[in-house]
Amino acid sequence: MLFHSSLCRVSLRKVTYTHGNVTERKAFTLNIPSETHIREADYFGMVSGRDVDKFSVTGLTPVKAEFVDAPYIKEFPLILECALIHTIEIGLHTQFIGEVKDVKVDESVLTDKKVPDIEKIRPCSLPRKVAPTMDRAAPRQGIFHWKRGVKALCAALADTRPLFLLW
Ligand SMILES: Cc1cc2nc3c(=O)[nH]c(=O)nc-3n(C[C@H](O)[C@H](O)[C@H](O)COP(=O)(O)O)c2cc1C
Repeated sequence: MLFHSSLCRVSLRKVTYTHGNVTERKAFTLNIPSETHIREADYFGMVSGRDVDKFSVTGLTPVKAEFVDAPYIKEFPLILECALIHTIEIGLHTQFIGEVKDVKVDESVLTDKKVPDIEKIRPCSLPRKVAPTMDRAAPRQGIFHWKRGVKALCAALADTRPLFLLW
């Protein structure tokens, strides 16, 4: 499904492994997990790819994106492939602004009208005290609060309005 004139932005600290990859490849993907993968999503957010291969630990499958030079996660139901078009330095973070080149949605989370259904995607939205983790030794941080962003994305995909997402 091609998706024109839509942007999304994510902010990453320079110390992250992902920051270097996005800068070098000028691309990134947004991978929306459903709650069945909350343990794996939590682990991805707690451990650095500089230290471990997160894919082999979690058993998730990296797939080369079709339109940009970045991997996406096969098991996750909603993927955005983004080409980096601009960066903004904000304190410790760099804000990466990407043009959405493709949206991949698993058939199983589509409505009869072939648009993504947030009730089927069931994105992770548990507060940290509830979220299980794969690595009990790591301190847990953050709150999985993606529902609002995913809801906006589903609405935009349903009526093809241009989209500006802040993650
Ligand atoms: C819910 C949640 C939100 C996070 N948000 C950010 C963020 O906005 N920016 C950031 O640099 N790190 C954020 N982190 C921390 C990174 O995910 C973490 O440093 C991760 O280990 C980086 O992995 P990498 O080094 O493989 O890129 C967040 C973590 C969690 C659990």
